[in-house]
Amino acid sequence: MFSLKDKVAVITGARRGIGKGIAERLAYAGADIVISDIDQEDCDKTAQEIADANSIQAIGVKCDVSNKDEVDSLIAKTVEKFGRIDILVNNAGIVKLDSFTEFREEDWNSVLDINLKGAFLCSQAAAKEMKKNNYGKIISIASIAGLVAYPNGSAYCASKAGIINLTREMAVELAGNKINVNAVAPGLVETPMTRFVMQDKEKLNQTLAAIPWNRPGQPSDIANAVQFLASDEADYITGQTLAVDGGWTIQ
Ligand SMILES: NC(=O)c1ccc[n+]([C@@H]2O[C@H](COP(=O)([O-])OP(=O)(O)OC[C@H]3O[C@@H](n4cnc5c(N)ncnc54)[C@H](O)[C@@H]3O)[C@@H](O)[C@H]2O)c1
Repeated sequence: MFSLKDKVAVITGARRGIGKGIAERLAYAGADIVISDIDQEDCDKTAQEIADANSIQAIGVKCDVSNKDEVDSLIAKTVEKFGRIDILVNNAGIVKLDSFTEFREEDWNSVLDINLKGAFLCSQAAAKEMKKNNYGKIISIASIAGLVAYPNGSAYCASKAGIINLTREMAVELAGNKINVNAVAPGLVETPMTRFVMQDKEKLNQTLAAIPWNRPGQPSDIANAVQFLASDEADYITGQTLAVDGGWTIQ
């Protein structure tokens, strides 16, 4: 069940955190892996680590997802090395928090450029290749901040809500080419991005009190959902956003 043997998967923002957890899981399930992020050395290191731990091939490719030339080159290098792309995970993302009235235009632009435009550019370039094979799985890492309000997160909330409806739109357009498009919406996950919460005991306890499972998620919790959505067992699921949040948003 949920085997990804002989599939080719590209994961953006995969040198650490949730992206790395996803890459490890997809490799364990048998996929060849492209580790993509903003630092080539980190990508190479992570790719080597993952290839060594699993009997698969992995390469690292530097790519800023907000830059169309770099995105096109990421997909071209993937096809050059592996012949095709089966799975794209749009994971790269940043968060900037400030009160709505003080939020700076340049921060709004960088959050939207990386989180939302990045998912658009990567999905567009990957879908063109996937169409050739009449097969593909596109999975974007949104956030529960795209489903409910997160204080001081105007740009982040807007970018993640954008991903959720872009997911539905792409799912409709690409269904005829047997390309599934889904999103995963994590709650609080322990990664470098959330160090500011994890290290603040009072803030952490307040947050955990609102989470029925009373613990932060781990990258492996998100990777479990991504592996399922990337597998052929999820062929009839498209346009959906699966919250993986320990029940945070259900009450
Ligand atoms: N950690 C959480 O609690 C949480 C919750 C909900 C959603 N998310 C989402 O999960 C994804 C991964 O987050 P994380 O917690 O692992 O964060 P992280 O900061 O640990 O990892 C994000 C990765 O994205 C990369 N990145 C940043 N800008 C990039 C760009 N322009 N091009 C390519 N890569 C870029 C970073 O270098 C980093 O490796 C993000 O989209 C984030 O919004 C995280």
